[in-house]
Amino acid sequence: MEWIKYHEAEKVFDLRTENSTYQMQVREYDTLVHLYYGCPVGDSLITDRIVCVDRGFSGNPYEAGKDKTFSLDTLPQEYSSFGSGDYRESALDIRYDNGTRTLGLRYEGYEIIKGKYSIPGLPAMYADENEAETLVITLRDDVQDVRVKLYYGVVKDLDVITRSVSVENHGQAPVQLERVMSLCLDQPYGDWDWMTFYGKHEMERQLSRTPIHHGVQSVGSLRGASSHQYNPFVMLADKNATETSGECYGFSFLYSGNFLAAAEKDQFDQTRLIMGIHPENFEFLLREGEIFHAPEVMMVYSAEGFEKMSNCYHKAVREHVCRGRFKLERRPVLINNWEGTYFDFTGEKLLEMAKEAASCGVELFVMDDGWFGKRDDDNSGLGDWQVNEKKLGCTLSELAERIHGLGMKFGIWYEPECVSEDSDLYRAHPDWAFTVPGRRPNRGRNQLVLDFSREDVRNHIFDEMTKVLDKADVDYLKWDFNRSISDIYCAALPADRQGEVPHRYVLGLYEFLDRLGKRYPDMLIEGCSGGGGRFDAGMLHYTSQIWCSDDTDTIERLKIQYGTSFAYPVSAVGSHVSACPTGRFVPFETRAAVAMAGTFGYELDPAKLSEEEKTQIRGQIEEFKKYYDVIHFGDYYRLTNAMEEGPYAAWEFVSEDGNEALVSVVASRVRANDPGVRIRLRGLKENQMYLVNGVEYPGGALMHGGILLEEAKKEYQSWNYHITAK
Ligand code: DGJ
Repeated sequence: MEWIKYHEAEKVFDLRTENSTYQMQVREYDTLVHLYYGCPVGDSLITDRIVCVDRGFSGNPYEAGKDKTFSLDTLPQEYSSFGSGDYRESALDIRYDNGTRTLGLRYEGYEIIKGKYSIPGLPAMYADENEAETLVITLRDDVQDVRVKLYYGVVKDLDVITRSVSVENHGQAPVQLERVMSLCLDQPYGDWDWMTFYGKHEMERQLSRTPIHHGVQSVGSLRGASSHQYNPFVMLADKNATETSGECYGFSFLYSGNFLAAAEKDQFDQTRLIMGIHPENFEFLLREGEIFHAPEVMMVYSAEGFEKMSNCYHKAVREHVCRGRFKLERRPVLINNWEGTYFDFTGEKLLEMAKEAASCGVELFVMDDGWFGKRDDDNSGLGDWQVNEKKLGCTLSELAERIHGLGMKFGIWYEPECVSEDSDLYRAHPDWAFTVPGRRPNRGRNQLVLDFSREDVRNHIFDEMTKVLDKADVDYLKWDFNRSISDIYCAALPADRQGEVPHRYVLGLYEFLDRLGKRYPDMLIEGCSGGGGRFDAGMLHYTSQIWCSDDTDTIERLKIQYGTSFAYPVSAVGSHVSACPTGRFVPFETRAAVAMAGTFGYELDPAKLSEEEKTQIRGQIEEFKKYYDVIHFGDYYRLTNAMEEGPYAAWEFVSEDGNEALVSVVASRVRANDPGVRIRLRGLKENQMYLVNGVEYPGGALMHGGILLEEAKKEYQSWNYHITAK
């Protein structure tokens, strides 16, 4: 097992996964230069592709003397720093106590460790000693004693290389960190596309693909959460890369707060990619002996297009990011009362819904917002986590008992990070909410955000939650967060540390979730932020699934789930059948087919359903359970591009052994005199015979010849084709 090698003579670090190679070299003046990231190159060291020539206005390190050919301005660097002659986007920016910001990082040493490193207080991919190796490279400022450690986790079989960074102050004077990127990746060659996932509340993760042009292009969030607007997952792709061919790179940030991902094409057509905590409103003071840890980025390279890359991420997130007993366990089919009742419910109403749902085979009943404090709309009550027994007509444990009595599990909703001004908590502790002294705060959904960077605030909420959760038998918790953060000010920190608050907030959130998960290991936690406003690999370390979007319109979901699938596994995608929320009528079976590409459940009032629809639900749940393994643990194929308005949307799941597949198709419209559509399947075994609806075909025929879709007879008709090896 040697996936990380240091070639002493050439001073080259050589990292290898099954299908990728990553190399860097210690060059003149102890500069760490990036050499290569791409297809495996056997035993070659890609040392001769670095161009060193004299270029005007590209300065040279002092040690270079009269040699004008070695310039940090043009070299591909492994981790660039601000102020010493590299004018591109920098990875590290430090302000020293004399006010200067020039930093010169020099290579100092390395260490190779078995297994995968972890990061104190932050989520990270995990893997055992047989699955991963870690390389730690130490760089050091040539003047002040600041050391930077670059971490590389090589998870060979999954084709993942992770990156993280720590900064240590070994000097006596304090230093102020102004920017610490987790990743800097220089691509000296290639003409790349920049693929990002933008969106809004109720339409998250829409794929955007544009050519990288000269200058800087970036996405990011300053909302305190990773956001609906831009996802912390980006890609670089060859201009001609498709689902099945061409080179592409994925970069997934395991972080749930402010982030920046930027690509810069420089004067010599080289591309630099940086990813990390957004430097805006970020500062971190390091006193002597203190260490700052930057969050992790998971990188995947694929030479065979997007689907290969996505499947690496799916497995990595499902099995090496998500934790706890639920990561590989079957998740219960749930019903959530939110879209069925909103705030308007009683205990009796919920029981009526639960009874109907149980009779259809639903396994978990979730009581959403409105069960606590004074909470009959979204203007009050957040922060008062005492059960409203008057509204429920019983205690929470009684309600839980009755739901359990129906043979169902029981779950509840929380929004621990927020507070209503009209709440006892806010009246007692107004300084616990983010507000800037002397200014009126910006409200979001008429609520404020609690300062989760503070331990006392977290402890109070934790205690209030455990008082409830310890008493009632709760099997599931939905953790919601319904606004963007603003007016950041922490009453417990001095003026020169206010820039630390956004990051400390995220650390506080992770600490809380970690504690909660450890106290209730058998409770399934689903993340949520007004739908998918914090859908990232960082949250998935603590919550095994995340509510994908508040947009439950099936046809819009096709696009949302398509974008989500690039970096996140189906097992993480909270997805429900609902009544038709936008007024667009979509057949019941199509709503189910789309929701099945996720954790699957219902979000409607079952008492309002016809007997025929209830019978359909029974059938849908049976079908979902039958296909569960291939859906949640199989490989995923995007057979059509949901961003293009084609006549059909189609996707496919294939079991790891290639013996089973499920193809789901939704007709986008009815067409008169339909010309017929053929869909080529993927991921099957070429010479294996398969049964499709009772007819036998070799895998090759299904993949190359394809299957002819039935003509749509009604709008948004859908089909599931179950394919099994004979
Ligand atoms: C936003 C969530 O996304 C919804 O599912 C629901 O839980 C509401 N919040 C409740 O306020």
